[in-house]
Amino acid sequence: MSSRNLAYDDNGSGTPLVLLHAFPFDRRFWDGVTPSLVSAGFRVIAPDLLGFGKSACETTWSIDDQADAVAKLMESIKIPNAAILGLSMGGYVALSLAANYPKQVSSLILADTKAAPDSPQARQGRAEAIDVVSTQGVAAFCDGMLPKLVAPNTSENISKATRTLMNQPQSTILTALAALRDRADRRPGLSAIAVPTLVLGGEFDAISTPQEGAEIAAAIPQGCFVQLPGVGHLSNLESPAAFVQAIVTFLKN
Ligand code: MLT
Repeated sequence: MSSRNLAYDDNGSGTPLVLLHAFPFDRRFWDGVTPSLVSAGFRVIAPDLLGFGKSACETTWSIDDQADAVAKLMESIKIPNAAILGLSMGGYVALSLAANYPKQVSSLILADTKAAPDSPQARQGRAEAIDVVSTQGVAAFCDGMLPKLVAPNTSENISKATRTLMNQPQSTILTALAALRDRADRRPGLSAIAVPTLVLGGEFDAISTPQEGAEIAAAIPQGCFVQLPGVGHLSNLESPAAFVQAIVTFLKN
């Protein structure tokens, strides 16, 4: 496998729907929602982004490199265009695809994500995270990140299941933190997104707030915003049924 090829799952038939996972996860992130999406009539394609899961990558990468790899995957499996769903980091990649490969995007779902770049405070947080990963290791970093990902009242079971999915190589975590920190400001391009776009936001998402989601939707001509009640940053893991329902309602209408 070349370092820029992506491992992926491809399930179902019908309208292609590409799922782009959050950080620090891989395509297993979607296992809880894929069967329902397949039953609803979608062909669900879920890659491991570069460096994550089984998509080995020996080099550093940017968010735009991730979008290049997803576009290349779609070409290689002969999908001219698809509904693109990205959650958080996956949403950054989806926005890069919408900017750089608009013909490959038939509709867009941006879940728990941002169009704005890192603030100076967020950049400082990335520097601290890089230090934790370098000096204390991946497990300490993931333990510290978990409470920020889920809503305060999330069950112990969901928290534990989420934590087991947060296990990537140290080099991937370090590269990702730099790529997340250095991602582009996508706000100027939102008004040029010419496809139906659903923006999903968790009620208690402290990383990408519902307010930010509503602003993204308002800036996209065919954008709409749906808030998912009772969940934090990881709406697919915390409330899979509501997550799937919002997506299916949007894509079938
Ligand atoms: C994610 O969930 O993918 C990350 O929280 C994104 C980020 O840190 O910017």
